[in-house]
Amino acid sequence: MAKVLILYDSQTGNTERMAKAVAEGARSVLGVDVELKYYAGPDELAEAAAIVFGAPTYHHEITLPLKQILEEAAKAGVKLEGKIGAVFGSYGWSGEAPEKVLEILKNRFGMKVIEPPIKVLYEPKQAQLEECQKLGKRVAQEAVGK
Ligand SMILES: Cc1cc2nc3c(=O)[nH]c(=O)nc-3n(C[C@H](O)[C@H](O)[C@H](O)COP(=O)(O)O)c2cc1C
Repeated sequence: MAKVLILYDSQTGNTERMAKAVAEGARSVLGVDVELKYYAGPDELAEAAAIVFGAPTYHHEITLPLKQILEEAAKAGVKLEGKIGAVFGSYGWSGEAPEKVLEILKNRFGMKVIEPPIKVLYEPKQAQLEECQKLGKRVAQEAVGK
């Protein structure tokens, strides 16, 4: 089974709601094993066919837990080339984190990324959650097709 890993951080629940919608969309596709969590080590990343990050923006930055995942993967030399990558995240005014994560997935790890990332101002509305579901479905379909 193709594994879709959804890794997110969320301090007030906005990115978490998006993450759950992405997972729901991914689970609608047969033949995928979807995992939704805060952390995964390099070995788990290496096993996944697709990795989706939920990155809220704090202080114009990617938050520490997500940076840690990326740094550990880089240090371990984990090979993510050609895997599917996507990013989403809630923000308040500047919203840099999703693009920063996507840039790392694409240029540091050579992943095949879905652009642009989904960015939501504060709380996601129903239409935006549906967009997240669609993203999850697309990621899962591409993961199964690999
Ligand atoms: C201490 C603090 C710093 C923040 N810094 C930024 C920022 O630099 N840029 C931005 O767009 N939003 C910023 N925000 C707003 C958050 O990104 C926004 O509240 C978002 O919905 C949080 O997502 P979460 O509920 O998934 O944690 C900040 C919020 C807090 C509380």
